[in-house]
Amino acid sequence: MLRNDQLDQWDRDNFFHPSTHLAQHARGESPSRVIKTASGVFIEDRDGTKLLDAFAGLYCVNVGYGRQEIAEAIGVQAQELAYYHSYVGHGTEASITLSKMILDRAPKNMSKVYFGLGGSDANETNVKLIWYYNNILGRPEKKKIISRWRGYHGSGLVTGSLTGLELFHKKFDLPVEQVIHTEAPYYYRRDNLDQTEEQFVAHCAAELEALIEREGADTIAAFIGEPVLGTGGIVPPPAGYWEAIQAVLKKHDILLVADEVVTGFGRLGTMFGSDHYGMEPDIITIAKGLTSAYAPLSGSIVSDKVWKVLEEGTDENGPIGHGWTYSAHPIGAAAGVANLTLIDELNLVQNAGDVGAYLNKSMAEALADHAHVGDVRGEGMLCAVEFVKDRDSRTFFDAADKIGPQISAKLLEQSKIIARAMPQGDILGFAPPFCLTREEADQAVAGTVAAVKAVLG
Ligand SMILES: Cc1ncc(COP(=O)(O)O)c(C=O)c1O
Repeated sequence: MLRNDQLDQWDRDNFFHPSTHLAQHARGESPSRVIKTASGVFIEDRDGTKLLDAFAGLYCVNVGYGRQEIAEAIGVQAQELAYYHSYVGHGTEASITLSKMILDRAPKNMSKVYFGLGGSDANETNVKLIWYYNNILGRPEKKKIISRWRGYHGSGLVTGSLTGLELFHKKFDLPVEQVIHTEAPYYYRRDNLDQTEEQFVAHCAAELEALIEREGADTIAAFIGEPVLGTGGIVPPPAGYWEAIQAVLKKHDILLVADEVVTGFGRLGTMFGSDHYGMEPDIITIAKGLTSAYAPLSGSIVSDKVWKVLEEGTDENGPIGHGWTYSAHPIGAAAGVANLTLIDELNLVQNAGDVGAYLNKSMAEALADHAHVGDVRGEGMLCAVEFVKDRDSRTFFDAADKIGPQISAKLLEQSKIIARAMPQGDILGFAPPFCLTREEADQAVAGTVAAVKAVLG
């Protein structure tokens, strides 16, 4: 086997890894793993260790690894036309076809897709479009964006601000002043343990309304939320949440951005999370599942209502002053066309719903009696297990005990299964590729039970 044994050292000497403890990594105190190949739900490192990737990379390889159809579409596109820009009305067959395929699948009242590269830049685009929109409508004060604590929307300047996780703000001088946060729809972590789900939903809506009243509705442009909170803990909203929130937004003429970077294209067992929860967004953010990460591509799907104002804006002001060199990159677009075609052909949205429900049910049953498992929750092909020190009083472990990371490390070590220790709380997250089988779901559950036993008894 040809093997470059300097890779480990080169990695530590040269590579600035995202979301990594830089000092520990450079000193060689944290693991470095070189991934070499992958197929289906399995990835393999250069030492030949095979791992069941129950988080689909970063919940993005939705169709699974090693799909020849997508690899070939990328290859053909690269040979025929690796690049041309999409400014001033230029396009490619792939980018135009993909925009039609997205609109054909999108919730109603959507009009156009702007293409970017990743979820963060798509949300940056969204904020700019919203500001432009309100300027064109003659409401220059209506600019603030409300996000939720524990929401994840990226790690740029505005998007890192939208992200409601302390780690993304601390020492970065974020959030910027135009971004404010409201309560997360996290029933398990509610302050008042006596609240029913219904009361908690009413409380979230009341908190939102109070924030709007404090700030002044004429200063608030939009509300952004993931249909299911992702990185903040994999938390499906309590029943009625989106209905209650949308009523408040409508009343105050506030736009809704559905960040469907994780939920778009099937993860909840429906094409979009907005369909799943009856959301009627004005803008939808898409990325990850658009190409299943075979190439970087994201998008902002803009509704008829917003589009009309953007058109008026360019009649008044000339061409829209927004664009990236790589917007609608042909290789990403070709990957997107092949990916969405494959999702349909293999009926993967349905499989995400069916096997996801099976995974959630099996996980909940297997851990039901464990004294340190406080909550097992999920929706579609998303599942989370939350650990607590004491279940009855819902006392959490100290963050310093790193229970979540320990369990995820044990699962990897014992069962060769990747699940993600979510960054805030002792929460083990699963977001497998949609092609996961019931047998593979069983493996994930058995491995988790064994890892929990090894760490917590
Ligand atoms: C809901 C959501 N929005 C936006 C992003 C940011 O996407 P990216 O990392 O591609 O910039 C993510 C990434 O995980 C996400 O989960």
